[in-house]
Amino acid sequence: MNHATQVRLTREILAHLDARTTAQAPDIMYHATSAYNSPERLQLEKQILFRKYPLLMGLSGQLAVPGDYLTEDFSGIPIFVVRDGDGTVRAFLNVCRHRGARLVEDRGHVGRAFNCPYHGWSYSLEGKLIGIPDRKSFAGMDNGSRGLTELPAVERNGMIWVIPAPGPDTKLDVEAYLGGMAPELASFGLANYHHHETRILRRKLNWKIVIDTFLEPYHFGVLHANTVGPIFFPNLCLFEAFGPHLRETLPRRTIEDLRGTPEAEWNLIPHTALVYVLFPNTVLVMQIDHVETWRVFPVADKVDECMMYLDFFVPEPAETESAKRHWDRNMELTIRTVDEEDFPVGEGIQAGFAANAQTEIVFGRNEPALAHFQRSVNEAVAAGR
Ligand code: FES
Repeated sequence: MNHATQVRLTREILAHLDARTTAQAPDIMYHATSAYNSPERLQLEKQILFRKYPLLMGLSGQLAVPGDYLTEDFSGIPIFVVRDGDGTVRAFLNVCRHRGARLVEDRGHVGRAFNCPYHGWSYSLEGKLIGIPDRKSFAGMDNGSRGLTELPAVERNGMIWVIPAPGPDTKLDVEAYLGGMAPELASFGLANYHHHETRILRRKLNWKIVIDTFLEPYHFGVLHANTVGPIFFPNLCLFEAFGPHLRETLPRRTIEDLRGTPEAEWNLIPHTALVYVLFPNTVLVMQIDHVETWRVFPVADKVDECMMYLDFFVPEPAETESAKRHWDRNMELTIRTVDEEDFPVGEGIQAGFAANAQTEIVFGRNEPALAHFQRSVNEAVAAGR
């Protein structure tokens, strides 16, 4: 984040503190609960948002060297992403071109080739078919056309993006997709972060409720009174939209230390948590000293169930026991706050939706990020029909 933006945001935060105000949406917003429990709506979201949009697959540190790969199934398309021999990140369908077996599982490293676990066909890191046991039995087959099916994939500024189900003319232009947010994300040097840990969580709530969880601090003083609540100012945040994406700035109480110090020396980052929604399904949180990504997906055809990856990235590899303990404690606080406090409330909300207890909920003017995200989903679904 450039210094001018840091100064602008810091001034806004201090002004809100003085006035006891927070960022405001123009109006309150009434939001239909069917957005969270309609099977038809979920089908549209799956077909449009989770197939046609660029999805964040991870940060560059997860594919540190050629041969590193990771898999991704939650969009409904079996995908794996690999760093090839030249260092380029590529994405393929995780489907053997012989009879369709999955080539790889989870994440890991291969040498020069992927070997199918079924009959042993092998593919280069660039996706070419390079080995067929009993080759003469496939005489006449065009090996050149039996390479892995490649998907649009781009690595930019430390982030890896893939479109799971591209159309014939689909191009993946991440800078254009992120718009004004791209330079700001680039400034964080995400390529230099190291992957510390991944947790996969499954919860009984609509995928959008997970995103909603991050989008207002109105609840901090109540729900998080004994965890992160005392670190932040309840009901104080800044909000800025970048097309369907957004940045929410949550000031820490330490920001008061900047009062009376020269603006030229202001560094906002240690005094905030910066929450970015990378539309449609990723929340990236810039913490003081580490980065979290939450990538959320619906489970099959269930409106009330989701899977998410929580990936934790740190500035240096945790090579000592004390470093590991430090980051493990950070991870546990994150998990305890969100998985033990936010998500149980979210599951209760989802149960109320399922019971048709009410047909709409309301976002206050103090919840502008929530309104923007839900409106962006509505618009994307409507445009993609
Ligand atoms: S399905 Fe892969 S080698 Fe047969």
